[in-house]
Amino acid sequence: MPDTMELKKKIAKLKKERNAVILAHNYERGDIQDIADFLGDSLELSQKAVDLDVDVIVFCGVHFMAESAAVLSPDKTVLLPELYARCPMADMARVDSLRSLKQEHPDAAVVCYVNTTAEVKAECDICCTSANAIEVVKSLEQTKIIFVPDKNLADYVARNTDKQIIPWAGCCPTHNQILPVDVQRAKSLHPMAEVLAHPECRREVLDMSDGILSTNGMVNYVSTSESDEFIIVTESGLLHRLNKENPYKKFYEVSTYTVCPDMKMIDIKAVADSLENMKYVITVPEDIRIKAKRSLDRMLAIKRKI
Ligand code: 13P
Ligand code: SF4
Repeated sequence: MPDTMELKKKIAKLKKERNAVILAHNYERGDIQDIADFLGDSLELSQKAVDLDVDVIVFCGVHFMAESAAVLSPDKTVLLPELYARCPMADMARVDSLRSLKQEHPDAAVVCYVNTTAEVKAECDICCTSANAIEVVKSLEQTKIIFVPDKNLADYVARNTDKQIIPWAGCCPTHNQILPVDVQRAKSLHPMAEVLAHPECRREVLDMSDGILSTNGMVNYVSTSESDEFIIVTESGLLHRLNKENPYKKFYEVSTYTVCPDMKMIDIKAVADSLENMKYVITVPEDIRIKAKRSLDRMLAIKRKI
């Protein structure tokens, strides 16, 4: 079995041959973050997928992210090194149930979190990420909004807009399991630390936080904050990036349970195999792709105005 150095050399060689880039989400394993050409949150990575002039994108993240890249950039080959790296929350929203909900509320706009399948995006008016959910919802003329699939993000949006939000009942298992008692414990261990939470967390947890931010929001915030210590209330993979980019600051996990197993499936060998054997190619049927792209494009157009 080749060692890590050999695998990294192989990846570098194959990337050149195939005119490929590696995009990685902030929750990926540290060694995957370290070999990525671009690291980011869902919003930034979607934009990169559009802007980059390459033939192949190796997406180190979960299925919906690679699928969004394939929707936005049909001229590029999008590879997901582990086919079964999926987001359980994205799989909580089913297109047939969404159609029924839309029939119950024909006057509502439908906003889908980027953590959805392309099929669900195709049924929605506009997409959003954790970085822009409030702005996206505020931009709509309808006062009634179906928000799918994260009930916690829906609640956060409802509290920060004057819209009537009809939430889906889904949630991120990794964020939803973080409890106020975890935050309390972390605060008593690190009383000087600022608490930064992701809006996929429950309301009670958000209420105990000093800042509510997407993963890139946290990256940007800590680099300019005067604080030296932070309790990070999101998936633990982000700690790798925060520690690397801010060697003189301290970052604490809110608990030891904040791991998304799907975000940890891709390893260096899987990336090398992916580039060598061009697997797994993520494609979306053209009729769905066109409709899903409309939802993503509308979001990206708003983002550029912010
Ligand atoms: P962001 O990186 O966009 O904040 O998303 C978090 C997430 O859970 C992606 O799966
Ligand atoms: Fe999905 Fe949560 Fe994992 Fe993100 S952290 S991929 S929302 S399960």
